[in-house]
Amino acid sequence: MAAMRIAVSGASGLIGSALTASLTADGHEVVALVRREPRGPGEARWDPAEGTVAPGALEGCEAVVNLAGAPIAARRWNAARKKVLWDSRVEGTATLARAIAGLDEKPRVFVAGSAIGFYGETGEDAVDEDSPAGRGFIAELVQAWEAAADPARAAGIRTVHARTGLVVAAGGGAWGALFPIFRAGLGGRIGDGRQFWSYVSLADEVAALRHAIDTPALSGPVNITAPEPLTNREITAAMGRVLKRPAVFPVPGFALRAVLGEFAGDVLASQRVRPKRLLESGFTFTHPGIDDAIRAALPPRNRV
Ligand SMILES: NC(=O)c1ccc[n+]([C@@H]2O[C@H](COP(=O)([O-])OP(=O)(O)OC[C@H]3O[C@@H](n4cnc5c(N)ncnc54)[C@H](OP(=O)(O)O)[C@@H]3O)[C@@H](O)[C@H]2O)c1
Repeated sequence: MAAMRIAVSGASGLIGSALTASLTADGHEVVALVRREPRGPGEARWDPAEGTVAPGALEGCEAVVNLAGAPIAARRWNAARKKVLWDSRVEGTATLARAIAGLDEKPRVFVAGSAIGFYGETGEDAVDEDSPAGRGFIAELVQAWEAAADPARAAGIRTVHARTGLVVAAGGGAWGALFPIFRAGLGGRIGDGRQFWSYVSLADEVAALRHAIDTPALSGPVNITAPEPLTNREITAAMGRVLKRPAVFPVPGFALRAVLGEFAGDVLASQRVRPKRLLESGFTFTHPGIDDAIRAALPPRNRV
């Protein structure tokens, strides 16, 4: 594939930095959209709260990828925190969608970050991209996040909603918090452990985002999750197995609620999400199984 110029917001984040590294390694030019003063030619300023993007930043870009958003799991939710979570995603997406819709030469594709939280609690039932939205704060947030891309869609730009699952990574995201606990031998199932977790390795997340950029037939929602979601109990056993530690300390739901507040509901929720559209469009996973996904998240010297 010929070298492209691609703008990435949230490029300093867990997924954004891995995507940037992957694209630049293959010779593509990445313009990181930053909320501070740019530090070099590879960066351009945007201000999602003000709705502005530096003039020229998106000129000549064939793809724009939005991976910005205040961290969901970082602290307890109150009304002010919920507003930050909401605005950072909805206003960020709207800012980019409006900016690219107004360009004379528009990008071929807008990959708009999204999340499987769209589906809410799914219990034992598997859901895919044809399933309806769920209920609750996160499900509502994700619907607004996706709708904010409408100006790009209306301008005829192919728009993909990358509905990302739980990214298996040691360096960030909700999963990042699990590694030190399990390494200390203090891991265990959460709640009754029967809730499904739809995970994806960081390498597969990046590959799926690139597949979305490169696949003209893909538009609309695309679930980025490993093919077979597993229960928390199964994933707990895999963490213990791969890290060679006991994983026998269950975390009761009430304790989680005491520490995490409302976010505990999402940790205890069951989400059994299938990546139907990725598979139909010929995507192959490097780490379809949980053991490989966990192993890939470890620094090479710790891969056992
Ligand atoms: N990791 C997961 O398991 C997972 C799962 C589902 C969905 N997602 C979604 O995918 C996106 C990227 O996830 P990630 O794990 O890479 O997140 P991350 O590591 O927290 O990075 C997100 C980036 O967003 C920017 N950001 C932070 N606070 C912001 C704010 N208040 N307003 C605007 N931008 C802000 C920051 O970049 P700058 O400082 O450079 O602007 C930050 O590096 C997020 O929207 C997240 O919700 C992640």
